[in-house]
Amino acid sequence: MRVALALARRGLGQVAPNPAVGCVLVQYDHEGGRVVGRGWTQPGGRPHAETEAIGRAGKESLGSVAYVTLEPCAHQGHTDPCADALISAGIKRAVVATLDPDERVSGKGILRMKRAGIQVDLGCCNRQARQLNAGFLATRETGRPHVALKVATTFDGKIAAINRHSQWITGPESRAYGHLLRSRFDVILTGSGTVLNDNPMMTCRLPGLEKYSPIRALVLGHRKIPFDSKILSYEHGPPTLVYLGYKHSLAEDNVFLKKVEVCKVRCDTFGYPVLSEILADLVARGITRVLVEAGSRLNTAFLKAEGVDEIHWFRASTILGNDSIPVIGDLGQDNVEKLRRFSVIEQKRMGNDMYELLSKQANG
Ligand SMILES: NC(=O)c1ccc[n+]([C@@H]2O[C@H](COP(=O)([O-])OP(=O)(O)OC[C@H]3O[C@@H](n4cnc5c(N)ncnc54)[C@H](OP(=O)(O)O)[C@@H]3O)[C@@H](O)[C@H]2O)c1
Repeated sequence: MRVALALARRGLGQVAPNPAVGCVLVQYDHEGGRVVGRGWTQPGGRPHAETEAIGRAGKESLGSVAYVTLEPCAHQGHTDPCADALISAGIKRAVVATLDPDERVSGKGILRMKRAGIQVDLGCCNRQARQLNAGFLATRETGRPHVALKVATTFDGKIAAINRHSQWITGPESRAYGHLLRSRFDVILTGSGTVLNDNPMMTCRLPGLEKYSPIRALVLGHRKIPFDSKILSYEHGPPTLVYLGYKHSLAEDNVFLKKVEVCKVRCDTFGYPVLSEILADLVARGITRVLVEAGSRLNTAFLKAEGVDEIHWFRASTILGNDSIPVIGDLGQDNVEKLRRFSVIEQKRMGNDMYELLSKQANG
């Protein structure tokens, strides 16, 4: 199943609104197991992982064990249901990591295989499979996307000096990994403060992965940004989505309108676009995984709105001190019982930096 999960990861950022699934077919004999087919969800969401694995295994599918990271689908879409494909291929056992909550599947794929006489075991690597498909699962279970913050800080949690100078806090290894992360999300979202200070492109620029740059989204407040900001350039994919509150005057500006897709949403009492409405609009566009790469103001707003599911934290071995910009601003927490709690899921040394992946605790 761990191999199937690694295959599934290849689809992240490429398959939304579909899930990224991995499937491995194994033939067992007295000498042990032999992988006869491997598959993962293809860009755009089709073909599905199971069909890919069966196609590669050919006749060797017959009598094999299928390890699948998500319950095989049971409904007729553009292609036949994957549960039927596994039945027709003659597999004898299916090991499934987690159920598909989509109401067209939700247990029906398992039932279909059981009724055809296949032994089905559910729950192997359930936690890892749910984490991998957190975007797809969140949209189906809660109607909102999976939201991750990506932050690069000094050891004492600062993102910029008091003069707002910030490039580069972390080293080249962290920055390269940050670009890889971008390729695994459906959208990168930032705020006007970051655009005004750094003028970033917000693309994946790892050699060979440039075409996997996700859509870019920008949340504006009261200030305007220059028309020649790099985030507005067309060179790397579709026009940037620009979120504004209804009261913002920017949409009346024709030059700006030509360069971006303006998305107007309701404003909060401070005149800022309501974040939950932005997330709902992104889901309506088929987006399941959102990477927020912003400064402390937008990071804080997302945390306050309880909108952060995980944090990718790159921590350099440097110190800036209190007279600098923190990664998170005031949250108005007056007692430790209200702490936002995260669990450390992964930790890696990256050059002279540390990378940690934090996942929000269920009661966090
Ligand atoms: N190290 C890192 O991980 C990292 C990543 C990104 C940026 N940065 C650094 O962060 C600094 C910029 O920080 P920042 O806080 O100014 O930038 P930001 O968080 O990217 O953008 C903040 C701006 O977004 C607008 N906004 C829209 N909706 C908002 C809401 N609901 N709540 C708050 N603001 C909202 C406001 O614009 P108006 O003021 O126009 O109303 C606000 O000033 C730069 O120095 C940059 O280098 C560091």
